Amino acid sequence: MISIGIIGGSGYLGKKLIQFCESHPFVDDYEIYGFNSSGENLFSISPELANTTFDKKVKNISELSLNLDLYFVSLPHGESLNIVPSLIDNGKKVIDLSGDFRLNNSDLYPEWYGFEHSFPEFLKQKVYGLSDVVKNESYTSNLISNPGCFATAALLSIIPIVEQYNKKIVSISVNGYSGSSGAGKSPRVDLLLSELDGNVMAYNVHKHRHEPEILQELNSRGFNSHFTFSTHLLPIAVGIYSTSTIHLSNNVDQKKIEETYSNFFAESQFVRLRNTPPQLKWVVGSNFCDINISTRKNSIIITAAIDNLIKGGAGQAIQNMNKLFNWDESTGIVPYGVKNAQLYK
Ligand SMILES: NC(=O)c1ccc[n+]([C@@H]2O[C@H](COP(=O)([O-])OP(=O)(O)OC[C@H]3O[C@@H](n4cnc5c(N)ncnc54)[C@H](OP(=O)(O)O)[C@@H]3O)[C@@H](O)[C@H]2O)c1
Repeated sequence: MISIGIIGGSGYLGKKLIQFCESHPFVDDYEIYGFNSSGENLFSISPELANTTFDKKVKNISELSLNLDLYFVSLPHGESLNIVPSLIDNGKKVIDLSGDFRLNNSDLYPEWYGFEHSFPEFLKQKVYGLSDVVKNESYTSNLISNPGCFATAALLSIIPIVEQYNKKIVSISVNGYSGSSGAGKSPRVDLLLSELDGNVMAYNVHKHRHEPEILQELNSRGFNSHFTFSTHLLPIAVGIYSTSTIHLSNNVDQKKIEETYSNFFAESQFVRLRNTPPQLKWVVGSNFCDINISTRKNSIIITAAIDNLIKGGAGQAIQNMNKLFNWDESTGIVPYGVKNAQLYK
């Protein structure tokens, strides 16, 4: 049994982490830390949690206990950096859900995140926790960096092709679509229902922080061709839809590509291969990533859907915790999906 600190427990991902910790058979207890909400009761922040757990006070981050076994850090980017290094230096295990440790190269932080990275050594020692791809034996670090939500959907869509057909790839283009909860719970005018309703727009064109993260993971697998990434805001609260278009230098066979994906995800409990493009409604509220592949001549279109707060955040973080502690990766996630789900078409 382990004890957990949920730092940023008053946020959107924090609430999901609380729900998962509450139902996890190996989590003994957890403490919740917040910023502006410190001193408030959990049930006043999230009334829907009443009768699903005991009420607790949200503690201030400055009162952080070092007596816990694992810390989920779910703070705005730039803030995790102020906390994670001292936890690691104190021998603690940390799963960071922000972008502060995702990139390997500290030089990229000023351009993409707007700050100098003061702890480049931690970027090298972390494990990038794309949990359906990283093998159990690779969880050798106390620091796991949880991937971004767009990056999760894109990488699960593309990595199988990159690993198998790398030399033949001419270009990859990823279009991502997100609901408004992807931006967290701080109020913003452009996220008001009256602005979103009936509307769709591209945002952060050529500037989205998940671009260098996706490229880093593709480059590390030998990919070096053209890549573009664009993101759009949908008039919904939860969900990410990702459409990737890949051009190869030669024609490809649908059956062969399907076989590549089936083999790649044969052991995965949370990736479901579909015979039609997935719908957001099939995955919202679950830790599943649903993927469909369609080939014609030399082009491949891969569609994928995830819940940004679960597969793209808290659910994947729990999967990472399970792998870090050598438990079955679906432990405690079962209420959000069927254990040992079969891959099916
Ligand atoms: N939302 C998603 O879909 C998603 C998916 C994957 C990763 N992420 C990343 O995960 C992190 C958390 O996202 P979220 O959506 O849960 O955000 P959120 O709803 O805005 O919650 C942010 C949390 O951080 C705390 N906080 C805010 N400002 C702070 C500060 N200056 N110093 C210390 N703590 C502060 C807040 O505490 P108070 O409320 O008490 O002030 C709250 O608990 C972000 O880095 C985000 O990029 C988000």
